[in-house]
Amino acid sequence: MFEIISEAASELNVKVYVIGGWVRDLFLKRDSKDIDIVVVGNGIQLAENLKNKFPSKHKLSVFKNFGTAMLKWDEWEIEFVGARKESYRQESRKPIVENASLEEDISRRDFTINTLAISLNKDSYGKLLDVYCGVEDINKKVLKTPLDPDITFSDDPLRMLRAVRFASQLSFSIDNKSLKAIKRNAERIKIVAMERVMDEFNKIMLSEKPSIGLKLLRNTGLLKHFFPELDKLHGIDSVNGKAHKDNFLHTLKVLDNLSELSDDLWIRWAALLHDIAKPDTKKFDNEVGWSFHGHEYLGHLMVEKIFRNLKLPLNEKMKYVQKLVLLHLRPIALSESDVTDSAVRRLLFEAGDDIDDLMMLCEADITSANPLKVKKYLKNFEQVRLKLKEIEEKDKIRNWQPPISGEDIMSAFNVGPSREVGMIKKAIREAILDGKILNSRKDALEFMFQEGEKLGLTRAENSH
Ligand code: CTP
Repeated sequence: MFEIISEAASELNVKVYVIGGWVRDLFLKRDSKDIDIVVVGNGIQLAENLKNKFPSKHKLSVFKNFGTAMLKWDEWEIEFVGARKESYRQESRKPIVENASLEEDISRRDFTINTLAISLNKDSYGKLLDVYCGVEDINKKVLKTPLDPDITFSDDPLRMLRAVRFASQLSFSIDNKSLKAIKRNAERIKIVAMERVMDEFNKIMLSEKPSIGLKLLRNTGLLKHFFPELDKLHGIDSVNGKAHKDNFLHTLKVLDNLSELSDDLWIRWAALLHDIAKPDTKKFDNEVGWSFHGHEYLGHLMVEKIFRNLKLPLNEKMKYVQKLVLLHLRPIALSESDVTDSAVRRLLFEAGDDIDDLMMLCEADITSANPLKVKKYLKNFEQVRLKLKEIEEKDKIRNWQPPISGEDIMSAFNVGPSREVGMIKKAIREAILDGKILNSRKDALEFMFQEGEKLGLTRAENSH
């Protein structure tokens, strides 16, 4: 493929290089399907030329406004762009894009590890260009800007977040000068579109140990400018010598624990937000010490606003996060020995198919430093799992569907849609969850007639 690109560039008499992430990942031995090609000239023209060579094989998308073209080549996505420099001026959200030489293009990139380029030109095919000692920095595992970091970060403030993302994703450190510049310029992250911020943030969330990135986000001062609720979790209050734990660090521990068990982004979000309302529900009482009463309820209410502010999807993924935040204390309550079957049924009913994820979150929530305590809690959860399994096998409450529909009730009493029908439906559900009747159509029908009569309804002639 690179040979063909080389051939096409030589026909057009332009210089061409593979550059950036793909070259970096080659040195890091990471698999990457995104290839960036920089052309000293017109990137779109080169991509079109290639497409014409194989009209049916590849899909070409041209973004004239951005001066870029994307060619889908088997499993590869190849982006062609002319050498350029991009920068955000002052408070503007729109970058200024200007044509530039190859040297300038390289110098205006984010980190030295991303400035590596390999020539695809006939006279120097395969030669590595490493102007800023990127290979050395890859070996040293350090993120450093090619120019003065104040310039690099002001060209695009998102790069401050990218530094944190790469640090978290690759387990690299951020060079001291760049780190100081991030602290100095942190507030400028506000001019970046939230969708771009979240792209990077979610890559931090998906890294092997997300706490690395999240701690850096807080310590650099970036976090408070786009996610103040999470920043606010940090800190310890102490009254009469009694202190509560730092909820930010606790949350990160839960997130790391969970990340060992699941790669799913949204369960990781549930872990991130499970204690989000603790600062707003915090109380101190001389007798009981610190409490965070109702934080799971207030927390689940906060999820939507947070998702809205962060421009995250307001769809079933958000509802899933809300549900796990709301229910995250319930399995702990079930681990008490005198728990009733009805409490177990209620949890199965409310969690539905997400019960296993909820249990996973709760186990990750055990962050005690005392191994004996951890062992005890894990053993308790084993009991909870057994109880859940036992009751589910018996009562089939997970994904519960009412054994009697609204239509059934209406025809049984010959009435139209009404408040009474809703009341009877609810009473049947409650009776099943409380274990007063079995989760069967037969029992539910009998109970329905009793409830209807209590409400003054009369059986329809043909009902049985
Ligand atoms: N780049 C940059 N500044 C940015 C974004 C990107 O200088 N704000 C440059 C870097 O040279 C980067 C290249 O453009 O390597 C491609 O960017 P992108 O595809 O976003 O990132 P990758 O480095 O390829 O990393 P990943 O694939 O992990 O996203």
